[in-house]
Parts: sequence; C-alpha cells; structure tokens
Amino acid sequence: MCAERVTKAKPGEVETTGHVWDGIEEFNNPLPRWWLYTFYACIAYALLYTIAYPAWPMLTRATPGLLGASTRADVVAEIARFDAALAPIKATLVAADLTAIPADAELSSYATSAGASVFRTNCATCHGSGAAGVQGKGYPNLLDDDWLWGGDMAAIHTTITHGIRNNADPDARYSMMPAFGVDGLLEEAQIGQVVEYVLQISGQDHDAALATEGAVVFSENCSSCHGEAAEGNRELGAPKLTDAIWLYGGDRAAVTTTIVNARNGVMPPWAPRLSEDEIRSVAAYVHSLGGGE
Ligand code: HEC
Ligand code: HEC
Repeated sequence: MCAERVTKAKPGEVETTGHVWDGIEEFNNPLPRWWLYTFYACIAYALLYTIAYPAWPMLTRATPGLLGASTRADVVAEIARFDAALAPIKATLVAADLTAIPADAELSSYATSAGASVFRTNCATCHGSGAAGVQGKGYPNLLDDDWLWGGDMAAIHTTITHGIRNNADPDARYSMMPAFGVDGLLEEAQIGQVVEYVLQISGQDHDAALATEGAVVFSENCSSCHGEAAEGNRELGAPKLTDAIWLYGGDRAAVTTTIVNARNGVMPPWAPRLSEDEIRSVAAYVHSLGGGE
C-alpha cells in the first residue's frame, strides 16, 4: 500500500518522498553533487562532440561535424604516407638488375616481405598458402628446385609477368603436349608401353617387357620435348619424368590420363594486375623459398 503522506523533515532529519510500503518510507536524499556535475558535464560533452565530429546519421551520410574529421581520409593519408616512404625503395627495386636483387640485403628483405603478401593475396589460391602447390592438380610446388620453366630470377619474373598458356598475353609461356590418345597419335598398346616406360624411369613398379617397347615409343614421340633421358626441357616447360615430383600424379592411372588427354596447365599473366615492383617482389619471394637458382 502506498499512502500519500508527505512528511516535512524536521531540521536534522532526511526528507521523505511520502512513499510508504508496509511502513517502510522512501527517503528523498539529494543526488551527490559530484555525480550530478559529472552527469551535466557528460551531456555538455556529448552536445559539443556531435557538433564538432561526424555524428548524426542522415540519409546518405552522417553530419560531417565542424572539425572536418574523417577516419576514411585518415586512412587515405596514412596509405599515402607509406607510399611516399616506400617510393624510393620501390623505384630502386624496379631499376635494379633482376639477378642482383637476391644478393642485395636491403632490397631482398623488402622484396621478400612485400612479395609474401602479394603471394598470399594472388597466388595462394592455386599454389597453396605455403607455395607447396596442389599435388595431382597441376599447380606446381614452388618450394623445391624442380622447375618447369626455370628457377632463376629472370625466368621466374618472366613466368609471373606473362603467365603460362593463357590467351590473354601474347608473350605467355607456351607449349602443347599432344593428346596422344584422344588425337589418335598412338595406338592404345603403344600408350600402355610408354606408360610402363615412364613408370620404369621414375623408379616405380612396372612391366619390364612393355617398358622395353615403351622406350622406343618414348624416343620417337616424347624425347623431342622431355629429352632423350626424360630430363625435361625448360624451353618447353616439359617436366622431368625421372623424379618423384609430379604435376598431375605419377601412378599408372594418372600417367595414362596425361598421355591420352594431355593436360596443359594454364596460369594467368600478372602484368595487367600487379605493378612491376609487386611482380619483382613476388618473384624475389618465390626465388627465396628454397628452390631459387
Ligand atoms: C589460376 C591458378 C594460378 C594462379 C592464381 C597462379 N598460378 Fe602460378 N601456376 C599455375 C599453373 C597451373 C602453373 C603450371 C603451368 C604449367 O603446367 O606449366 C603455374 C606455374 C607457376 C610457376 C612456374 C613454376 C615452374 O616450375 O617453372 C611460377 C614461378 C608461378 N606459377 C608463380 C606464381 C605466382 C608468383 C603467382 C601469383 C602472382 C601465381 N603463380 C598465381 C597456376 C596459377
Ligand atoms: C610438344 C612437347 C611434348 C611432347 C611431344 C610430349 N610431352 Fe609430355 N609434357 C609436355 C609438357 C609441356 C608437359 C607439362 C604439361 C603441363 O604443365 O600442363 C608434359 C607433361 C607430361 C607428363 C606429366 C608429368 C607430371 O609431372 O605430371 C607426362 C607423364 C608426360 N608429359 C609424358 C609424355 C609422354 C610419355 C610423351 C610421349 C608419348 C610426351 N609426354 C610427349 C610436353 C610434351
């Protein structure tokens, strides 16, 4: 029950609000001064803030505020500051002799760290975030010293700039392994033989009699690109077939599919998308991964 009974306080007594519940009265203590003033200060601060800074949402943007503050402009300015700070080293990087970059401590440390981030953004989708490639999918491992098109700075730079077997860049690295089965260049039996030969030279289980026949097929049809000893040819991006490193898989089934259909992996050119300093950076990064020559 709430009885309306405002009791005037006697001197020394606290005033009550007049609210009483079951005999319990509510005191009417004033708010502490320090609290009240802090509260007013907050209101004043909030008002001044919304006048000075962007605050109230409008239809297309917030009220701009008198001071013209903008976090977006701050970011632009910050980026411009970094660009200005990095401009000299980028210019040196672009002007440098490609082969000299890995040997120059300052250049290579800038290039490899900038290149690592270019790699994460643009290359990791295909080559994997650790650059180890995707076995069996035709995305080569960039960590080893087994190169399709060459592993020195100049070769890596060319590969990245123009890409491989794409229609976008006339200077793209180009070569076409024929589809020996689909195009009827070899009989099924000959394909069976040459597959056994490839298994033999790569040190795997094979049928020795078929492999002997396969050696002849290889020499007549394959050695022009892969080399007489199947050591590979970087002019043509033809992989070495004697090691255990496979773009598309080295077992009987995968090798057969490669010979029947051909694969011809494609990499886009990067010159249209990356600046020269970025291409050089990512080339230096790839070169530094362990297989650089
Ligand atoms: C769309 C997938 C794709 C992307 C993205 C891609 N690559 Fe490639 N890359 C390939 C393929 C496929 C090959 C192998 C082509 C072949 O069979 O010759 C290759 C080959 C290479 C080679 C040659 C390796 C060798 O052994 O000679 C280098 C170097 C390379 N890529 C670097 C890069 C860099 C650096 C980037 C990022 C700027 C990148 N790639 C982005 C698909 C890609
Ligand atoms: C005109 C050149 C050319 C000829 C001829 C050629 N190849 Fe190739 N071969 C290539 C190229 C280039 C690649 C790499 C394809 C790619 O990167 O997508 C390749 C890839 C392969 C692979 C896949 C290797 C891997 O790492 O997965 C095998 C296996 C192979 N060739 C076997 C043969 C055999 C066997 C013959 C003969 C019957 C032959 N090639 C003839 C150019 C050739």
